[in-house]
Amino acid sequence: MSERGDHFYHQATEAPTSAFDVSLRPPVFSEFQGQQKVVELLTMRVEAARQRGDVLDHVLLCGPPGLGKTSLAHIIAASVGSQIHVCNGPQIEKAGDLAAILTKLERGDVLFIDEIHRLHPKLEEYLYPAMEDYKLDIIIDQGPSARSIQLPLPRFTLVGATTRSGMLTAPLRSRFGMVSRLDYYSEDVLTDIIERSAGLLEISVETAGAREIAARARGTPRVANMLLRYVRDYAQVRADNHINAPVADAALALIDIDRDGIDDMDKRILEAIIFKFDGGPVGLNTVAVAVGEDPSTLEEVNEPYLIMKGFLKRTPRGRVAMPAAYEKMGVPAPAKAAANADALMPDLFS
Ligand SMILES: Nc1ncnc2c1ncn2[C@@H]1O[C@H](COP(=O)(O)OP(=O)(O)OP(=O)(O)O)[C@@H](O)[C@H]1O
Ligand SMILES: [Mg+2]
Repeated sequence: MSERGDHFYHQATEAPTSAFDVSLRPPVFSEFQGQQKVVELLTMRVEAARQRGDVLDHVLLCGPPGLGKTSLAHIIAASVGSQIHVCNGPQIEKAGDLAAILTKLERGDVLFIDEIHRLHPKLEEYLYPAMEDYKLDIIIDQGPSARSIQLPLPRFTLVGATTRSGMLTAPLRSRFGMVSRLDYYSEDVLTDIIERSAGLLEISVETAGAREIAARARGTPRVANMLLRYVRDYAQVRADNHINAPVADAALALIDIDRDGIDDMDKRILEAIIFKFDGGPVGLNTVAVAVGEDPSTLEEVNEPYLIMKGFLKRTPRGRVAMPAAYEKMGVPAPAKAAANADALMPDLFS
């Protein structure tokens, strides 16, 4: 893949939310496409809380970047008719920061903590009583005169988002009344999402054109929207401002985007496992060193997609290349790859 094509995926998976993201964010459940189970469960719980005049239970949203966690947090707040307070796990440094956030809440408010797995472990202990008993225990003074005082908090809903639910401590996880996992989107749903975005951006796109874009979007709405924006530029300059399948195809071919959304880093990962480590099993850190990438990025961004596409498997002994990966690399799969595919090894991801 060209530098340019690679850039799209990286921008879409690593860049913080842009103004563009915000403008395309579905504002209500009915505009949030796909993730049917998650949406059904959330709407039901929101409705139940509303009927009782109660406050919605805490919600944890898990899943790879760009699948709609932040969008859902805003939709939840809007649907319970309350204010949302947004903060980011690593930005909360001290207990005082957390106390300042918590004491600003009003009954029924949504506190959205993004990247909650990166919240400092010490702060989690303040969060437990806040989540469970709506109380904040703070220690004032130091040394022998130190004492703990308790502040009552209004009932609120914590919505946590994480790309790495496995990194959440068990006590924190268990305090969420609902844990929703977002999955990659099908091409059909992504096609609908692209058509919706095109409508909002006043871009003329045929369904077949939207489908070409959807196929290369890595199952991710944010990538789909970014590719749409790129193809719009292409169509504006070279194709009378109209996107049909051949135009989308030509535009995407120009940036070397693979038909199944595999990017340069994905290819390097598969190459390393197949050629350097004889197909695996090989540990995550070893793969990370071999491809020169941060292990957590591999684990959060690249691997879930490769696993979903059937190129890779996580096993208790490490990562193994599947027959599809050999095919992708244009080499015959050894017998052991086929055996790996058949073996009922637990996938550590699920
Ligand atoms: N189900 C959906 N329907 C329509 N558009 C969606 C949907 N999910 C996400 N999007 C689009 O994708 C963009 C990214 O979504 P969002 O910011 O909610 O993802 P995220 O899961 O919070 O990502 P990150 O983990 O990177 O913070 C949104 O701006 C929105 O336009
Ligand atoms: Mg987000």
